[in-house]
Amino acid sequence: MKQDFKNISTQVVHWYLVDGRHDLPWRHKVTPYRIWISEIMLQQTQVQTVIPYFNAFIKKYPTLATLSPASEDEILAMWSGLGFYRRARNIFAAKEIIKKEYENKFPKHLEQIIRLPGIGKSTAGALMSLAFLEPQPILDGNVKRVISRLIKKDIAVLKEKELWELSKKLVNQEDCFSYTQGIMDLGATVCTQANPSCHTCPLNKSCKSAFKVKAQVKNNTAKTKKIITMNFSLVLTAHSFLLAKNEEGSIWNHLWVPFKDSVIALHASKLKLLKREHIRHELTHRSLDLSINIYLATKEFKVTTNQKYEWIKKYRIKDYGTPQPLTKLMSQL
Ligand code: ADE
Repeated sequence: MKQDFKNISTQVVHWYLVDGRHDLPWRHKVTPYRIWISEIMLQQTQVQTVIPYFNAFIKKYPTLATLSPASEDEILAMWSGLGFYRRARNIFAAKEIIKKEYENKFPKHLEQIIRLPGIGKSTAGALMSLAFLEPQPILDGNVKRVISRLIKKDIAVLKEKELWELSKKLVNQEDCFSYTQGIMDLGATVCTQANPSCHTCPLNKSCKSAFKVKAQVKNNTAKTKKIITMNFSLVLTAHSFLLAKNEEGSIWNHLWVPFKDSVIALHASKLKLLKREHIRHELTHRSLDLSINIYLATKEFKVTTNQKYEWIKKYRIKDYGTPQPLTKLMSQL
């Protein structure tokens, strides 16, 4: 079967126009800024999880101009619970560059966009096609799967370079917006990893794997995640929480967290232990086993530490980037 990539590309566009997920918020009121925020959020997080975070972010910062004065902490606060916090810090770093080098206008050339923190080749391609309507290829996990099935070659043996070349051949030159959104939808909803829906796929006449992908039973032998134990001492007064900026480790870096037990032990005489909480929290690649001693202090005090810390008023805690399980715990105190 000779494969006509132009024809396949057109079929993706037609399918998107009829069956695509047109209700996703970043597909309306399209601006480079909105596409940028959504693509960064979507890099490591599923669509359904991203939607409320995207809406909240856009409500607080509807435009690049409104994001421009935001601090790194304020951006991290909007990210609380979404995970992979480096993305939020990259957004901060990128908007600072946009302010200094591009007069606060989102740059529109691929070479400029690809140099912004947090934007790799695929995200840059998505931005060009979706925000500037300049056809450029993308290559995320879903697109790799669609392409490898189309040509019936194992993803594991296909080279990145080969995949990029095929992806480039597929991009629709007439409607790169619908094509790009469409190929992502197709990968996420039809050409799924397990049990793809070949009978509803617009490409089933040209796909070399159509109706041939073996049904997969759910993989229960998933690797067990590494368990990480963490101990904290959460100190509170009637109106505030004592939190420090975390500057170490790969988890929760730059977020605000309670001090370690050893720091708080130095101030034991001022504290009354209220309770101990134990929380198990699942991240994508790790499980966290958290033990938190919760202490009451009658008044705020100066902590013996080199770490940056604050007594944060309870009503202001949502303005700080705090990890999800601790945010939840504090909301109950
Ligand atoms: N994943 C990455 N970008 C996406 C988009 N624009 N729509 C849906 N899923 C995506």
